[in-house]
Amino acid sequence: MAEEAVLGFLQTNEHISDSHEFADSIGVSHTELENLIKSLKGFQIVDAQEITRESWVLTEEGKTYMVNGSPEALFFSAIPPEGISRSNLKEKLGAEIFDIGSKAAAKNRWITFEKDLVKRKVESVQDEVKNVLARINSGAAVGDQVINDLKRRKLIIKQTWKGYSLKKGPKYVSKRKKPETDLTREHIVSGDWKNLEFKEYNLNAEAPQIQAGYLHSLLEVREQIQNIFLEMGFEEMPTNNFVESSFWNFDALFQPQQHPARDSHDTFFLETPASTQNLPEGYLGRVKLVHESGGYGSKGYGYDWKREEAEKNLLRTHTTAVSTRMLYALAQQDTFTPKRYYSIDRVFRNEAVDRTHLAEFHQIEGLICDRGLTLGDLIGVLEDFFSRLGMSKLRFKPAYNPYTEPSMEIFSYHDGLQKWVEVGNSGMFRPEMLLPMGLPEDVNVIAWGLSLERPTMILYGISNIRDLFEPKVDFNLIKSNPICRLGL
Ligand code: PHE
Repeated sequence: MAEEAVLGFLQTNEHISDSHEFADSIGVSHTELENLIKSLKGFQIVDAQEITRESWVLTEEGKTYMVNGSPEALFFSAIPPEGISRSNLKEKLGAEIFDIGSKAAAKNRWITFEKDLVKRKVESVQDEVKNVLARINSGAAVGDQVINDLKRRKLIIKQTWKGYSLKKGPKYVSKRKKPETDLTREHIVSGDWKNLEFKEYNLNAEAPQIQAGYLHSLLEVREQIQNIFLEMGFEEMPTNNFVESSFWNFDALFQPQQHPARDSHDTFFLETPASTQNLPEGYLGRVKLVHESGGYGSKGYGYDWKREEAEKNLLRTHTTAVSTRMLYALAQQDTFTPKRYYSIDRVFRNEAVDRTHLAEFHQIEGLICDRGLTLGDLIGVLEDFFSRLGMSKLRFKPAYNPYTEPSMEIFSYHDGLQKWVEVGNSGMFRPEMLLPMGLPEDVNVIAWGLSLERPTMILYGISNIRDLFEPKVDFNLIKSNPICRLGL
């Protein structure tokens, strides 16, 4: 093994002066030895100095002459004692050997030309060229004059070698321990671990790509937002009903029956079953009254409230329908308990589809129900919630919802876009909504809602909602999405 040879040699010798010679002497390729040297050097087991060495090597032509003899020697040998005609000799040797050989042999004064006849001038010759080529090939030194001649004849060429000279490094060992990669039970039991060397972690190694399921970007952001709600002590509301009655989606929210949002241009109504009979009767009566004539300090809307309108089934247009059901359930309890509720789920609106709108999207909704809440509480909780989402610069704009008073649109300054963007809607639920449910008079509800798609698009730099949702989603985008971290 090359490693043993190198370390063993250095144990008794000061240097390995030339890695090429050493590679030859132990019969490995220089490339293999070079890789070993680099590894040993990395562990400071050896010191390696780069060296360059020049040597003469035979060209292809030179190699042929070394084996077959030089053209001049071949030329000489082919001449019989009585001489030979040029044309016969040329035929015997071939044109190339004849041409080169005749010139060189003439220069050596080995031959003479008598008219057409070629004759030997000396009895015998030594093929010095062949001999010296063999010496060069075996690495022996030869004189400058000879080198220059061979170089001019292009029989040898200079080659530069890069190699190394080696000596012991500061951490030299005559035998390298193979570092362990794992600490096992056996190591601990036997006590071996005390003497073992362990391989260091390579923290720069690339981990293999995990082939597993991937979360869609919306799900990633949903999970983060869910965590924020949980950290803030909110409970999740059951949102598993896409189909809702108009009663819970609108009427219970004090949204009058002639409100434009209740038109089929804005809301998807169901054909089958087109209506629901299952509504809470006593509460329904109080809702009817508050719409028609008010109560609880309100004048109401002053119109004829129709049960058929409230019974119409639809695809819920907001998750506030779920919040309403939850608040009603809370009001039915014997003693009131304050609650913090949230939900993140799908809602449906009959919208013209464009780059930023689809007919369905996800709504994030949060509400707090407690005694004596004020608008200041709402602003405070919004600032807390949105700053956890990474939006700490907020502005509020007065707005209108049929079910909240006061109502506020929420704007956040977007550093990337360098402008204020609307991020949500909020308000305090009206007494006309809460008191018919039977909640105590001093209980207030502060609530807000926003879409899941908008922050996701901003976070992932997606400008067309259709690239995020529904069949055009690019799976590679999902696969390569970085982990979502809100608020950092
Ligand atoms: N329901 C509102 C919407 O769909 C959001 C909202 C929720 C507003 C709660 C105020 C209070 O935009």
